[in-house]
Formats: sequence, structure tokens, C-alpha cells
Amino acid sequence: MTQIQTEVKRVEELRQLLQRASYAYYVLDAPIMEDAVYDKFYRELQDLEIQYPELIAPDSPTQRVGERPATHFTSVRHHIPLYSLENAFNVDELQAWDQRWRRQLPTIDSVEYVSELKIDGSALALTYENGVLVRGATRGDGVAGEDITQNVKTIRSIPLRLNFGAIEPIERVEVRGEAFLPLEVFKQINEERQKAGEQLFANPRNAAAGTLRQLDSRIVAQRRLDFFAYTLHIPGMDDASIANTQWEALELLQKMGFRVNPNHKLCAALAEVGEYYEYWDTERLNLPYMTDGVVVKLNSFKLQEQLGFTQKFPRWAVALKYPAEEAPTRVENIAVNVGRTGALTPLAQMRPVQLAGTTVSRATLHNSDRIAQLDIRIGDTVIVRKAGEIIPEVVRVIKELRPDDTEPFVMPSYCPVCGQSVVRESGEAVTRCVNASCAAILKGSIEHWVSRDALDIKGVGEKLVHQLVDKGLVHSVADLYELTAEKLCTLERMGQKSAEKLVMAIAQSKNQPWSRVLYGLGIRHVGSVNAQLITEKYPTVEKLETAKQSDIAGIYGIGAEIAQSVYQWFQIEANQILIERLQATGIKLAAEETSLVSSGEQKFAGKTFVITGTLPTLKRDEAKALIQKAGGKVTDSVSKKTDYLVVGEDAGSKLEKAQALGISQMSEAQLLEILAEE
Ligand code: IVH
Repeated sequence: MTQIQTEVKRVEELRQLLQRASYAYYVLDAPIMEDAVYDKFYRELQDLEIQYPELIAPDSPTQRVGERPATHFTSVRHHIPLYSLENAFNVDELQAWDQRWRRQLPTIDSVEYVSELKIDGSALALTYENGVLVRGATRGDGVAGEDITQNVKTIRSIPLRLNFGAIEPIERVEVRGEAFLPLEVFKQINEERQKAGEQLFANPRNAAAGTLRQLDSRIVAQRRLDFFAYTLHIPGMDDASIANTQWEALELLQKMGFRVNPNHKLCAALAEVGEYYEYWDTERLNLPYMTDGVVVKLNSFKLQEQLGFTQKFPRWAVALKYPAEEAPTRVENIAVNVGRTGALTPLAQMRPVQLAGTTVSRATLHNSDRIAQLDIRIGDTVIVRKAGEIIPEVVRVIKELRPDDTEPFVMPSYCPVCGQSVVRESGEAVTRCVNASCAAILKGSIEHWVSRDALDIKGVGEKLVHQLVDKGLVHSVADLYELTAEKLCTLERMGQKSAEKLVMAIAQSKNQPWSRVLYGLGIRHVGSVNAQLITEKYPTVEKLETAKQSDIAGIYGIGAEIAQSVYQWFQIEANQILIERLQATGIKLAAEETSLVSSGEQKFAGKTFVITGTLPTLKRDEAKALIQKAGGKVTDSVSKKTDYLVVGEDAGSKLEKAQALGISQMSEAQLLEILAEE
């Protein structure tokens, strides 16, 4: 295909996709994509049409203001069209907007801007005649919307009669604003829909739009919609000095009985607008409703009038939006990673895309069930989502943009690292490589062995581990202890000094306590707290090796699943050999008496503790084990001899007694903090 043929095909694809999306959004109330995603495709189409004007067709989504309203409400023509806003996605684009209008009015110097929060809801146009609400309409295509007066009347923050206390009664008043659902109500509605097996609303905006277009206004009334007013139209209002600025209009709206969002600011310079935008970027997360940006308007109505409108937007306003949390991109490959436990994890490698301030190019696809559910294939255009600190994920596939020659993804039946057959046990979502000498499993287990909570070997990171395994220097964690500076020096970019340091660090790890060694073995379900509990009960590896599964399960805090996993691990011959080898190197496979335990672990020597209430993460026995390990004594009742009371939730009489005796208290967090201190 030639370049132009490719572009023609793309334009056609985008047009069809955007049309389908608008129909789903406006007519069916079942949106198929986020607005930000729509905007992105829209911009792509617009750019192509600018580049190739001959490709513009009269039915292109770029050639109309919006889409047709649905048929079941009466269509009404707006007295004044409802324009939409041009978007800016950063302060540079805001400045570009500012320069654009200034070019049109070169004599204007300093101006006032009003910054308002952009409420993520559904626009409403309200008509009042002689002070009485006579009509409420949706935006529709901006020229005509739907008459939803009955539904609008259920919104309690919309006055049915205007308060004319402040001004003379006026024949016709038009008020615009945003109807929205508070986040709490949105959550509640979705919970109910889930219970009823209905399709969930993708976000509060769709829920608000869907609610407003409910035919049964009794349902609308139950949904607790809310409304913020932001535009006032009174014919000739600036001539009559009713309001000359947006700021005054907002004040007046409030006096007339509307809810106006209290978060708006008069800014004397564009820099102030920028600051306001940055401030709300984080602060908006504390609001009980959604905002997706700041709307910036020139304050003076005179200036607004002079500037007027383009086909679709006012020139005197701009929506300064926060970065999208969802974006489309293409899957270039689906790689399969093998972890320490042998689990095969599919990973989508995608064309890099900017999301919530970071570049995203990879996302885990978890397992084959998840892949089947999404039906994701190499070559697909997908929507990736990354909200705030959340790890990026693929939320859906846009099937319309799927190339012709794709094939469903199949999980390999052989481990991509060692080539041995993989297994998927019935009832499990995970496919595993079970070859104990698989390089991927080996690398993962060594990385775990050297990690901070295990043997804590400084200087041995992921890169070095890979080198060691790939060069065949290490086939098991026990081999680490046979490394010499000489052998290490054969590695790329490894000097004599660093090699010697590494050998020292590895040797020092032999002093780590038995509980860390047990954790370092990477037995499934054995985290560091469980390892401590187990080593308390089994102070030597010999005792643990010969323990019955039911005895291990008898340890307080250790369940049947953990016990089975530990028991089975010691039954495997390769693991028994590993233990023997570790023992030969001098690694501690037994708890030491106090003299040999590092001083850091004797922090509570001679101190008596009482634990009361429910602790947030630790079970009572786990906390007890930790205190005892640090040399402390734990008793059941508070007395003068008690040094510390560890307090959890719903603490009762013990807390009162301790307070009466003036005994120091600490929370679980404080306890753990002290224990973690070097
Ligand atoms: S002013 C001609 N102010 O954002 C003026 N709009 O993306 C147009 N919106 O259709 C509207 N908060 O539904 C304005 N404080 C605010 C707003 C706001 C939310 C919505 C409105 C508009 C859309 C444009």
C-alpha cells in the first residue's frame, strides 16, 4: 500500500469508529470508550483531514457539532446554542490559546480570567419564564437537545422558581450548568446494578447522562443528581448592568437560588490560572465529585462579545484538562515471563504512550484466563489505563481496529526459557514451568535469596544474578558461597576490588539468622513473618525436616496450606541436597542462643509487654513472637511490672489500667518501626 492509501484507509476506519462511539454514547447510553480516548482518535482524524483536505467528507464526525438526540424524548431547539469548549492539555497549550485571542484584539493588555472547576457531568440548559422553570434540556448536538423537564425537576439543587430578591423580575432567563452524580451515589448505583446483573456505568459522567435520560422520572428522583450552575443568559444583561462579567454572573446565579461551585477564582494573570490548575491536580482527589480540568474564561462580557465563537467553541474560553488516565495504543508483542515460582506471566509490549504523567509501554496480562477474557492479540489497538499510582493495565480491545491477519494468543506449552513442558493444574489460572533447574526459576530464586528481607546480600542485584546464571557460574544459591574473586573477575566490567567486596558480602550473609534463611528458600506461602513463626517452633532445620505436616499446621498463625507447602518442599530430594550443601557452607540452619544473635534483635531484653485489642496486621501470636525474638517478655495482664502496652483497636480495660498506672503505650506500627531500626 502507498502512503496515501494507508491514510485513506485510516481515515475511513477512524470515521466509522467515531460514529459508532457517538451513537453508543448519545443514543444507546452505553458508551464504548472514554471521552479522552474519543478525543485522541478525533484529533488523529482531524490532523489527517488537515493534512489531506480532499479526504474531508460531509458526514465526517469533525463536520458536525454533535450527534442526534435519541428518539424517545421530544427534541427541542435551544434558544441559544450550547457550545462546547476547546481543550488544552498543559500550560503551554493554555498560553497558545491566550496568544490566539490576543492576536484578534492586539490592543488589549491585562485582563481578568475566571478559573472554574470543570465538572465531569452532563450539561443542562434551563429556561425560566417569569421566574418559573419551564424547560430543562440536554445539550444534544448543541443546537437541539431533548426535553427532560420532568427529570430536571427532580434535582433538588435546581430551583423551580427563581429568587428575584436581588434583581427585577425578568421575562426569560437561561441558565446552563452541569448535572452530576456525587461519587458516593455513583458507587452505590453501580453496586446495585451489579447485584441485579445489569451493565455497570463506566464513570460518574455516563451515570449522570444515563440517569437524566431515564424515561421514568421516579427513578431519576431516587438517584440524587446534583447541579452546579455556571452560565447565565439574560437578553441585554450587560447593557442593563445586571452583570458585566462572569464573576458577577456567578454571584447573581447564587443569589437567584442556584448552587455554584465554590471553587472558582478571579485571576489577574495567566500564571495564576496555571497555579490554580496545578493546585487542583492533586486537591481534586479529595472532592466528593469528579472534575477533569479547569475551565478558563475571560471575565469581561464585553471582551467575550468581541471575540465571539468559532464553529464549535467560544474563543474566550478554554478547558484546561488533566492528563488522561486512559489512552489507546497498539500491542506490538505479547512476551511471556517466567518468575521465581515458575509461573508464566504474559506481558503486553505496547507502543509507548503518555498516561497520567508517565510513559507506559508494558502491562502485565496476568494469565491465560485474563487474555481469553480480553481476547487480546498481537497487533490489536487496546485501551490502557493508569490512574494515579496504579500499575498500568489493559482494560479492553478495540476490535474495530483489529488488523485482518491476527490470531488468538495461545499460552506456550513449553517454558520459553528452558523449553520443558509446562503444567496448568485444574482449578488454577496459572501455568507453571516445573523444571527445578530452569534458568528463569533459578534467577528468580537467587534474586529472592539475596533480597533485603532474606539474606540481604548487598551488591548482588538482578543484573549480576543474570550474568552469574547465564555464564554458568551459579546453578543454585549454594553456589554463591563457592564464588571467588577470580571467578567473578571473568564477568563483564567486574574489577578485582568489586569482586573481593562481593565475596565478602556473600560470606557475611552466613551470619543471618535461621528465620531469614528459611524465608530465603522461597518456599511458597512462606513470607518473612511465617518464617519467624515456624523457626520459633522449629529452632533447627533437622526438626523442621522431620516434622509432621499436622504439627506444622498446629503453629498458631500457620494454616493448612502453608504447612502443606513447607512439608512438601522438604520431601523433594533436590531440596534436601540443597540444605546439605548450605549446611556445609556454614549458613545458619538453627536458631542461635542470645550471645550470637545480633544486638539489634535484643532491643527488648528485660522488658515486659502486654498486648491488647486487635492489631491492624499482626495476629496476637505473631506480635508476641516478634517481641520475644527481640528479647522481650509478653504477659497477659497489666501490672506495675509492665513496661509497654501494645494497643490495637477496641482495646478495653487493659488500656484503662495501663493509663491509670502511667505505662507507655505503642501501636503496632511503632512496634514494627522499633524492630526494623538498625
Ligand atoms: S462553560 C460556552 N464551565 O464542559 C461555554 N463548561 O467540554 C461552555 N463543563 O459542554 C461551557 N464545567 O458541559 C463551562 N465550569 C464550567 C464547566 C463546563 C463543566 C462542561 C460543559 C461543556 C463541557 C465542554
